[in-house]
Amino acid sequence: MKKIIAANWKMNLNFQQAKDLAKQISKINSDNNIIIFPSFIYLNKVREIFNEVNIQLGAQNCSDKQSGAFTGEISVNQLASLECEYVLLGHSERRQYFNETNELINNKAKLAINNGLKPILCIGENLRQRESNKFKQVLEAQISECLEGPNIDDIIIAYEPVWAIGTGLTANLKQIEEAHNIILERAGKNIKILYGGSVNESNYADIMNIGNVAGVLVGGASLNYEKFSRICSF
Ligand code: PGA
Repeated sequence: MKKIIAANWKMNLNFQQAKDLAKQISKINSDNNIIIFPSFIYLNKVREIFNEVNIQLGAQNCSDKQSGAFTGEISVNQLASLECEYVLLGHSERRQYFNETNELINNKAKLAINNGLKPILCIGENLRQRESNKFKQVLEAQISECLEGPNIDDIIIAYEPVWAIGTGLTANLKQIEEAHNIILERAGKNIKILYGGSVNESNYADIMNIGNVAGVLVGGASLNYEKFSRICSF
């Protein structure tokens, strides 16, 4: 079955490096649904590079305001006008370093959907919550508070345990399957769920072979063409 392979470039790469990587990625021959999330300032150029190929574009964030005097913000309309189809919302780095709350993320999700963008909502527990066995409650609260209102069919969820992001620690297959089942129970069995957190060229196949994993959200390994193309070859 076709998988979703999303690449979160985060705040990496200069302009030349972003163009070079996009050009390499545009040559990948894969039946999977590949979505690239570059920095805002590279979206337009990367879109041009992907013009002739079937690779989609997403933004790493968006404003919770529709438009107007909000210096430095990027609106969902502006993203949609660049043919950006997806937007990452609630990434744990945004929650942790920019104090994004479930309520703010919920506002962004509604705005994104109303303006034709598809949110990929990131949820996940931190190490303390995992160790104290609170992760089920954390996931359920994130789902109900971030998704209050929007039609669930318009959303993809990325389960990203915070302790596995950029750490080299991956959740084991049983932990991933269990967390995805909790999400399916709460969000409905038709929702697509990606796994993210130290996905790399060695573990991607085992993870995507889990029945309730619709794909992966890749950070670090997506910056390296050889590693990322291996993952796309699934
Ligand atoms: P990582 O990042 O693959 O580098 O752990 C994943 C993410 O933050 O989306």
